[in-house]
Amino acid sequence: MLKIIKDIITAIKITGIRNVLELKKHSSLLGSMFRDQVALDALIALEKCGIMSRVFALSGFSLNDFTEFDNVLLGKICDYLHHIGILNKTGDKKYSVKNQIVAKRLSKAVYASMAYNEPIRNLDKLLKKDLCYGRDIERNDHYDAIASADLTSKFFYGFADSTLTEFKPQSLIDLGCGTGDFLAFLEKKSLCGWKRLMGIDLSEKAINEGKGRGIESGITKLSSGNALDLKQNSEMAEPDVISIMFVLHEFEDDKATRIINNCRRLWPDAKILLTEMIRLNDNKIRKSNGTVVPELNFVHSLSYQIIRSKTEWERLFAASGYKLLSSREHSLTYTFCLLFSPHGKLKDKR
Ligand SMILES: C[S@@+](CC[C@H](N)C(=O)[O-])C[C@H]1O[C@@H](n2cnc3c(N)ncnc32)[C@H](O)[C@@H]1O
Repeated sequence: MLKIIKDIITAIKITGIRNVLELKKHSSLLGSMFRDQVALDALIALEKCGIMSRVFALSGFSLNDFTEFDNVLLGKICDYLHHIGILNKTGDKKYSVKNQIVAKRLSKAVYASMAYNEPIRNLDKLLKKDLCYGRDIERNDHYDAIASADLTSKFFYGFADSTLTEFKPQSLIDLGCGTGDFLAFLEKKSLCGWKRLMGIDLSEKAINEGKGRGIESGITKLSSGNALDLKQNSEMAEPDVISIMFVLHEFEDDKATRIINNCRRLWPDAKILLTEMIRLNDNKIRKSNGTVVPELNFVHSLSYQIIRSKTEWERLFAASGYKLLSSREHSLTYTFCLLFSPHGKLKDKR
């Protein structure tokens, strides 16, 4: 303690109190900002090598388990993760995860950042117009589906489900289902008595991941398919409801209309439950600074996704012959559930 006080006095004598305080502030700012970036990048590297889950496994690991990789570099990464409190060093070349709950949260943060890792890492090239989003570079659909489920499962599944209870539906198709977690929720926790559930997603990887996790069951099926180009098949009998959760904002009006028209053409009597984000103005986004909302808003705008108002959604669905049956808003999570029912003829044939 005495030594520390002596060192502080020496530093103040040499450089002055202002510089000492400035150095301390600068070091803690670097410590937090730089650490977030370095730690995240280190974990992303492990995930890209396919070993993050093994490093985070309850049983612990030895560097000798990973001889196919540069063991010296892997050792440096693990020592760094040990120094910042993510891993424990349990012996020579041996580590284990310090806190399983923290590790789980970190894995989810890695999946979320990997969804938009490519465009974010290449912002300079996008700025200089060396690359064009959508043509040269895109977000990663697989990680987007996983990260989306991590966020949506906490509240939106229940919110969407409770919007449906009064209609007592028994069958549902989840269009853009990702890994199919919403269907698993419906099967286990729903207040409706579901008899037939089907999930469709463009990402074969997400569908296979859902199948691997055992989401399919006697009543739940998963299948890969493009909502823009849906064809009827025997597995896709008309459901009572089509759920489209956080998917349609990815499309401009003409493509969104094509998807809604496909639903109307294939399943003319089914209702559509749309779960989407509410559009926020700059002020509201600034006020949500303590949450992930500013980042979500940024990546959505970066990838040209369109957050529409309720009136804009109503107009879009009306063009495909749907009218709004019920609507629920949840302002704390900036989300609404709009339930549409078929009404009249399909006007816009796109
Ligand atoms: C933001 S995620 C939402 C996933 C899920 N509905 C949820 O709420 O967690 C968007 C999903 O839409 C899927 N998707 C995008 N374009 C699609 C298309 N043309 N046809 C089917 N699925 C699509 C993506 O693969 C991704 O899983």
